[in-house]
Amino acid sequence: MATFSKTGFKTINYNSFRPRYPPSFYEILSNYSGNKIGNSLDIGCGTGIATYDLLNISDNVEGVDLSPSMIKTCNDLIKERCESLGISDFKRISFNVGDLDNLDTLTEGKYDLIVGAQCLHWSKNFDQLFKKIYKLLKPNGVFAYWYYVDPIVTNASGKNDLQTLEKAKQIYFKYMYDDENLVGPHWEQPGRSIIKNYYKEIDDKIPSMFKDVKINNYEVDLKNFKKPTEGEDLVLVKENINIDQLFNYVSTYSGLHNYLEANPESKVIEDYANELKSETGWTEDTSIDLVWNTGYTLVRK
Ligand SMILES: C[S@@+](CC[C@H](N)C(=O)[O-])C[C@H]1O[C@@H](n2cnc3c(N)ncnc32)[C@H](O)[C@@H]1O
Repeated sequence: MATFSKTGFKTINYNSFRPRYPPSFYEILSNYSGNKIGNSLDIGCGTGIATYDLLNISDNVEGVDLSPSMIKTCNDLIKERCESLGISDFKRISFNVGDLDNLDTLTEGKYDLIVGAQCLHWSKNFDQLFKKIYKLLKPNGVFAYWYYVDPIVTNASGKNDLQTLEKAKQIYFKYMYDDENLVGPHWEQPGRSIIKNYYKEIDDKIPSMFKDVKINNYEVDLKNFKKPTEGEDLVLVKENINIDQLFNYVSTYSGLHNYLEANPESKVIEDYANELKSETGWTEDTSIDLVWNTGYTLVRK
């Protein structure tokens, strides 16, 4: 996907404002894997959000991404991120520019775990990708891919008045998808449609040579709200955050980046923030809970 490779794309903002995957999710990976994880590979690693955390469950991790600026940010963060994880042997992690649709330079049969976080929808050939991943894995090795879709406000300053929450959701959808003059037409396709369809198009392509297929989706239902379950779902939740964090997160969207390139004068995030505040009565002091729609798939060689 080209947007993240553009020189104007702010990878540091991306790293700061995108959600982290929680320890409970790495536990799901580790439990499913069962065996000791020696070598892991993170394809489409971005700024290394998952790559670094994989060091908690894997001896060595390699990250690959198409975008040289993403890989530069990964490398710039090695010291800081490794130290925060209490890791002094920086050689346990490495990053390289590479295309997930052309992984030919990697060693076949090397990996216990291959992951694709929020990136598989950019592959141009899922059949070929699954075949290649199969070859790269050791026997019984695991391929795990996951994604998050849209953040939904489920609570605002301790109130969860359904009508207001539905209104907030509707305004978000208007700005990000539904209004033809806003961000909607600027998403790269088919990637965004695949992700909005909960990766069904990808899961349908899992070849029968993989076993133990486990597919999980979590979707916010505002009427009968139930939080995602730790140990079962990919839980992406930010509670009691300032409303500005929602706008910061949205500002990392590739679709928004493309829209702003085409409309440099636009103040779309400000317009979104103003409309949201005026329609809901929320202010900069309102604290909100954000819950993402998410999903993951685990398969074994
Ligand atoms: C939304 S980001 C996800 C990054 C990271 N995995 C995470 O969980 O935050 C998608 C990443 O996929 C990368 N990407 C897109 N197409 C790719 C390709 N064909 N090969 C490798 N990386 C790709 C982009 O450069 C970007 O860093």
